[in-house]
Amino acid sequence: MTLEEKVGQLHQVPPFFFSDSLVNEVAGPLRKYKISEAQLYRVGSILGTAGPEEMRQLQTMYLEKSRLKIPLLFMADIIHGYKTIFPIPLAIAATMDVERSRLAAKIAAKEAATSGIHVTFSPMADLARDARWGRVMESSGEDPFLNYQMTYAAVKGYQGESLKDPSTLAACGKHVVAYGAAVAGKDYTQAEVSKHSLYQYYLEGYRACVDAEAELLMSSFNVVEGVPSTVSPFVLKTLIRQHLGFKGVIISDYDSLNEAQFHHVTHTGEETALKGMQATLDIEMSSGIYQNYIIPLIKKGQLSERLLDQAVLRVLQLKEKIGLLDDPFRGLNPALEATLPLSEAHYQAAYDVAKASPILLQNEGVLPLNKEDDVVFVGSLLDEQNLLGAWAWHGEAERTASLGMVLRQRYSHELIPFDTLNETHVARIQNAKKVVVVVGERSKEFGEARSKVSPTLSEEHIQLWHQVIAINPSVITLVLAGRPLVLPSKIETSKGLLYSFYLGSAMADVLADTLFGQLNPSGTLPMTLAREVGQLPLHTLSLPTGRPFEGKTYTYTSHYIEGVNSPLYPLGYGLSYTSFSLLKAKKMHENDQAILLEVTIKNTGTIPGEHPVFAYLHTPPVPVALPEKTLVGVSRISLDAGATQTFTVTLPKHHFYYYDTQYRRQSFLGPFTVTVSLIGETLDVSC
Ligand code: GLC
Repeated sequence: MTLEEKVGQLHQVPPFFFSDSLVNEVAGPLRKYKISEAQLYRVGSILGTAGPEEMRQLQTMYLEKSRLKIPLLFMADIIHGYKTIFPIPLAIAATMDVERSRLAAKIAAKEAATSGIHVTFSPMADLARDARWGRVMESSGEDPFLNYQMTYAAVKGYQGESLKDPSTLAACGKHVVAYGAAVAGKDYTQAEVSKHSLYQYYLEGYRACVDAEAELLMSSFNVVEGVPSTVSPFVLKTLIRQHLGFKGVIISDYDSLNEAQFHHVTHTGEETALKGMQATLDIEMSSGIYQNYIIPLIKKGQLSERLLDQAVLRVLQLKEKIGLLDDPFRGLNPALEATLPLSEAHYQAAYDVAKASPILLQNEGVLPLNKEDDVVFVGSLLDEQNLLGAWAWHGEAERTASLGMVLRQRYSHELIPFDTLNETHVARIQNAKKVVVVVGERSKEFGEARSKVSPTLSEEHIQLWHQVIAINPSVITLVLAGRPLVLPSKIETSKGLLYSFYLGSAMADVLADTLFGQLNPSGTLPMTLAREVGQLPLHTLSLPTGRPFEGKTYTYTSHYIEGVNSPLYPLGYGLSYTSFSLLKAKKMHENDQAILLEVTIKNTGTIPGEHPVFAYLHTPPVPVALPEKTLVGVSRISLDAGATQTFTVTLPKHHFYYYDTQYRRQSFLGPFTVTVSLIGETLDVSC
């Protein structure tokens, strides 16, 4: 390989670099780069093609003109489905079910691979604790244990048993590191996180990617410890490659290598290229720094060709692992791409993943509805068809049923699909027995570059909600969101409150089935619901304070003089249409890998139900500040009405850790106390 050909392998470009007719920009603004046609026909990969024909056209064109004919790698953002859209990752986290995380990834890979995609820029493994950040929707929420478990499962789902299987995708975990600690919840700036928190909490998601053998990791836009991750040896070498042991390909985020100059950390193209290579960044996404500046650096003896060779080797090894060197069109299957997505089986899978996500927060006997109920539905979101959420590029909102469509199809209840009410509407609402008011945010209001300074309901929805509850107290509030919104302060006067993150293709069916009782809600909060915007960022398992407030009159305690400390609802909160009783919990077994608890539970209600059971470790005495409790286990249980059963809850011991003051990972020493929790009931277990 010539130097030019080596460097070319480290450059990834959007498809429209090749031809104006291939305009399908899927990520970020295109800046004018000085890339020659010769350089273009030496790039190593493409991001964001728009389907099988475009992929075939590009690969064929490229192979005809390329000297070495090393096939292009095709990568894309398949975040929660290709054409069959699954719930957004935050909604899958609300199911607390790793199997659902794995299944959604597996089917997404199966569909996307038929379009010739080889790598997905997923899972996003960033710990997310700030509801202002638009990308919390892509995360598994605020808890490191949950983040690890859901991320690990997603990588396994995408990659399957072997990447030689053409129905799999290589996973690219992102964004290393700590993008979720974005200051003020805004994208592209800096992550303000202490080194101890970085190791203790924020690394867990990326560790999950490495443990699950993700083939790629993506560097983040943000600055960490004073340096943009993309050019940071501390982030990419010390943390990712040395501390976590990652041996795969590191790709930059879109243009983030070039943008090191806008962070004023590098000042020339050559310096930017040098710092990227020294940090062991392998592939540059979209900008042309590597193609334009690596060779002069090598020729001037400022950069060793060995570093370049190591990066190129990682890229070529990835292409070989995926089977691309044997078949440049690995996985491509236009006929299957046209039929497999949105097949009945895949729609059913999307429904099965989604049905465990809606979170019942309040219910004073008003839910589930029955079809004889005199209930009226209010709110323009009833007619919203884009229920796919952000990052659903290939999804087809126009083919997605709105909640209103499903309700009209199944029932004869009156729908008032407006946020502004006229006298007729008011009169109808006034004399209805129950009112379901649908409020929240739309798909375009969350995701990348969708941070909110005030993540509340819109003014219009706040007014609608107050107006409805003023004319009829029997209100059931249905919230649709991509993040944990701050709800109106009087929200607890709702007789019912059902919270749903965006659930994708099957959302309307799942919500209708949940409202009318065909489904018993079993989701729980993966992120804390704050009472006030001023509390943000807020997460439940936070560090204890030296001066806990707890309602004490003593002034000098940790509190707000004009607000409250407590969240509206904490991590893990969620009710059921049935009730359960925790009868017994004890340690059943222990080995090097895990502690197994045996938990006996009774369904004391009149309908079958599923729900997550949580296990929290009481933090043993260690020389660093940690939350008083740590989530170390979660398991979904399922019981028929009146049934009693014993379940196993597994506590993986690799979560029994802390980082000491030298940032060394240490294991907690027993004996342990673990609190088992199920819808507010708890039992302590000595282990
Ligand atoms: C975006 C996102 C990243 C995505 C990439 C490619 O800017 O930050 O998550 O994978 O560009 O679309």
